[in-house]
Amino acid sequence: MSKMKKVVVIGGTGLIGSKAVKLLQDAGHEAIVASSRNGINAYTGEGLADALAGADAVIDVSNMMSFDTAVITDFFGTSSRNLTSAEQATGVRHHVALSIVNADQLAANPYMAGKLAQEQTVASSGQAYTIVRATQFHEFIETLAGAYSADGVVNVPDIDFQPIAADDVAAALVEAALGEPKNGTVDLAGPERATFESFIRAYLGSKSDARPVAADAAVDYFGAPVVAGSLVPGGGYIKGRVTVAEWLKA
Ligand SMILES: NC(=O)c1ccc[n+]([C@@H]2O[C@H](COP(=O)([O-])OP(=O)(O)OC[C@H]3O[C@@H](n4cnc5c(N)ncnc54)[C@H](OP(=O)(O)O)[C@@H]3O)[C@@H](O)[C@H]2O)c1
Repeated sequence: MSKMKKVVVIGGTGLIGSKAVKLLQDAGHEAIVASSRNGINAYTGEGLADALAGADAVIDVSNMMSFDTAVITDFFGTSSRNLTSAEQATGVRHHVALSIVNADQLAANPYMAGKLAQEQTVASSGQAYTIVRATQFHEFIETLAGAYSADGVVNVPDIDFQPIAADDVAAALVEAALGEPKNGTVDLAGPERATFESFIRAYLGSKSDARPVAADAAVDYFGAPVVAGSLVPGGGYIKGRVTVAEWLKA
């Protein structure tokens, strides 16, 4: 087995973070579960120096939701600045951040603007890093279906979609954190690419939800204009293994 490493998972109690923590522990590594509720706060800086002491890598999967661009860019920018500064001060050699495929092209969407601020802060920090950009999670499809629902109909953008299971995202992040920094970005997407509409229909169908689903070229991605490839990788990417059907069955 390779040498045991200490990895701090910022957002270690969340959907992706808890899975990353388990994978690290199962492989014999030390995983520090960091979240604001347990006194380790990336945004305020509270508890960071102690948590990061002696760590080999940090995986940042913290999250906050806001539809206000200033609030969300401040959260991701400030947190990333605090983390990369604390890493440099304590000698942590690798920062791994989870972002979203094509965040730079979708920055008219406030949340994507926040992820772009995170990416830019990490890339300009001077800290060795890997940014993993994932597509939307299987676990996020229900939220998307709800957000695009109005008057009993689900109208979604007329674009491609390639969701990925949270398990596959966590595995890719752990592999990145245990490897060498790329000082760049890698894309990550699920095993199937099809229309956004078809995934929403399959998901609702599995829940016996008979709401009609339609693709509408006038519908954007929460404020960001879209083209066919807006939510899928444009070049090479790491491919996840779990299909939506397998995930639903599990
Ligand atoms: N949803 C998608 O389809 C998708 C796609 C690609 C990428 N992503 C990215 O995936 C990441 C993880 O998402 P998720 O769904 O796993 O998030 P989540 O379940 O909402 O968990 C968020 C975690 O962040 C922690 N946190 C929040 N503020 C913090 C702070 N100031 N300091 C330290 N920890 C903090 C939370 O714990 P406390 O509340 O205790 O602080 C929690 O552990 C996000 O960055 C998101 O942008 C999501």
